[in-house]
Amino acid sequence: MIKVIANATNKGGEGKTTMSILLSEYAALVLKKKVLAIDMDPQANFSKYYLNLEYDPIHKSGKIPPIHPEYNAKTDPRWDGRSSIADIFYGEGVSPYPSCFENIEVLPANSNKLQEAEAVTKQDVLDKVHLRLKNFISLPEVRDTYEVIIIDTPPSKGPLTIAAIKACSHMVIPSQMEEDSIDGIYGMLQLWKQESYMRSENDPITLVGILANKFRDVSLHEGFFDHLSTMEATKNFIIPHKIKERVVYGELRVKDDRPKSVFELPEKHPARIECETACKEIMNRIFK
Ligand SMILES: Nc1ncnc2c1ncn2[C@@H]1O[C@H](COP(=O)(O)OP(=O)(O)O)[C@@H](O)[C@H]1O
Ligand SMILES: [Mg+2]
Repeated sequence: MIKVIANATNKGGEGKTTMSILLSEYAALVLKKKVLAIDMDPQANFSKYYLNLEYDPIHKSGKIPPIHPEYNAKTDPRWDGRSSIADIFYGEGVSPYPSCFENIEVLPANSNKLQEAEAVTKQDVLDKVHLRLKNFISLPEVRDTYEVIIIDTPPSKGPLTIAAIKACSHMVIPSQMEEDSIDGIYGMLQLWKQESYMRSENDPITLVGILANKFRDVSLHEGFFDHLSTMEATKNFIIPHKIKERVVYGELRVKDDRPKSVFELPEKHPARIECETACKEIMNRIFK
């Protein structure tokens, strides 16, 4: 059974993209699974990590995917050669891109197209946006090709995040251990509960866990972590292994030619050890 993991919180800067990268690379490099990375955030940070996105010349802001390596203008006269996950909201097909990691393929963001889908308000159209990603992931060719799908989401509770939650089988909430971030966790727990009521028995949505990110050994962070570990609503979800605040995570994201995976750092590197420990726990909960 394919596992579809959404990383979601309505606040920015909590670690959604970082976790999307970590879980994609853990599944692909360590577990040797076939991964599809889907970027639902108009900021396109997840796709930018794996592909050389281009500046959008028409809208003069935002990013568009590069020309697809399989594009041939002669044989595909009706395709502009670029493919984004946003195309599913316009009734178009999509073609995942290979990445520099053998087992990771990417469906990148298109900033302006995703922003348009996020801005939809009419109820009937909204319903279409909400279900398009789920319908795409249900296609036999998707389910037969990949073992794990990782979805990165924008920092909102808008249509794109809802679409990701509706499409996923598992949800991870990365969060800093700070007051505003903790408020965000409760909002996401509510979204998860609402969605789980609507699911059928054979299509559940599992909240895998709340992962403490950018953790520092200070009493503020430890206090919030202990609070979440004892509160009825969160104690079963808080993942006991934290990701600390480390300069190396930022450095890994500054790529030249090829991004470097934290799982390619020396075996004893503390960042590699803590990521392996946290990702192993998350994947054990998912593949149990
Ligand atoms: N554990 C960490 N230590 C240091 N920097 C981090 C850590 N996690 C994330 N960052 C940095 O913080 C910023 C926001 O993280 P990101 O994963 O992009 O959050 P989000 O996707 O939730 O907005 C990025 O620049 C990222 O490199
Ligand atoms: Mg992000």
